[in-house]
Amino acid sequence: MTDNIVIFDTTLRDGEQSPGASMTLEEKIQVAQLLDEMGVDVIEAGFPIASNGDFEAVSEIAKVVKNSTVCGLSRAGSKDIDRAGEAIKHAEKGRIHTFISTSPVHMKFKLQMEPDRVYEKVIESVTRARNWVDDVEWSAEDGTRTEFDFLCRCVEAAINAGATTINIPDTVGYTAPEEITELFRRVIENVPNSDKAIFSAHCHNDLGMAVANSLAAAKGGARQIECTINGLGERAGNAALEEIVMAIRTRNDIFPYETNINSRLLTRASKLVSAVSAFPVQYNKAIVGKNAFAHESGIHQDGMLKNAETYEIMKPEDVGVGGTDLVMGKHSGRHAFRDKLAELGYELGDNALQDAFNRFKDLADRKKHIFDEDIEALVDDEVSGASE
Ligand code: KIV
Ligand code: ZN
Repeated sequence: MTDNIVIFDTTLRDGEQSPGASMTLEEKIQVAQLLDEMGVDVIEAGFPIASNGDFEAVSEIAKVVKNSTVCGLSRAGSKDIDRAGEAIKHAEKGRIHTFISTSPVHMKFKLQMEPDRVYEKVIESVTRARNWVDDVEWSAEDGTRTEFDFLCRCVEAAINAGATTINIPDTVGYTAPEEITELFRRVIENVPNSDKAIFSAHCHNDLGMAVANSLAAAKGGARQIECTINGLGERAGNAALEEIVMAIRTRNDIFPYETNINSRLLTRASKLVSAVSAFPVQYNKAIVGKNAFAHESGIHQDGMLKNAETYEIMKPEDVGVGGTDLVMGKHSGRHAFRDKLAELGYELGDNALQDAFNRFKDLADRKKHIFDEDIEALVDDEVSGASE
């Protein structure tokens, strides 16, 4: 049987923490409803103690979401936890996600707390969260830079206090695939009660490895992956949900897992999040970028016209894109040009075709974007020139 990976989307919490990405209540509800429809298992809807707006957003999302678990984030203090508990109390399925830093650098400089006090707070916070809900996630912030024995002690204590999900975040995007596989494998092996919780990966993209690290964590035993649409998130962002889902689907031979995501909604989700966050999606972004299924080179276009598997490893329809885009430009070849003419309703003889093709190449050298109208004008000139 294939293992299921729980998809935990934090676009509305970690994603919204990107400078400049804040969203209105209506926009957040729209995003949450689409994530719910898409099959996301857990939606982290916000950080209720952060502001009244965040509290309201989590609370309203908790009321409208039908299938997904709705989660509110909190630090380890009782006020934070109670605020998160209040915010999710109307959810069909609610989760409190509480965290505290466990790495030496965070404990010393950020928390200014001794490890023993942090350890106590792990127990206090999870216990308090369990008074609100059964579904409690505990995170060891900066987990990948935490001393191994201390991490195991805290994880064991969190599970004993009632945490059902244990998240080991790569908060600063520091780890690498081999390392995180080993980390998850060793923690799961060393913590005596590890079978009582689902282990989760939450990777940031500072070195561009968030998706690779998340999948590598799954190899080490993680069964929840935390991610965001378009990889939106603090600094260089979080692991991109669409990339995780399509990597699992496309390379199921090496990532033998399943997710509940309807991948046909990925492009719609990407466009919606880009619009409401005002963060454009780069043209060459994997899966959802404008060029992800576009081909301009003549060699590639010729291959694509013969068999799409020559240059595409996924079907555009599977991610909600209408189809492959053979872009007409200076790299295009005769094969694609003839096909484009046929699509526009022209059938030219060999000489006329060659002539039109030469003129098209000249135009493409001068003009960056060639539109259908440019090609029509060029052929119409050709045809009227021939009849004069
Ligand atoms: O990156 C991080 O460590 C976080 C935690 C709050 C889970 O976002
Ligand atoms: Zn994060």
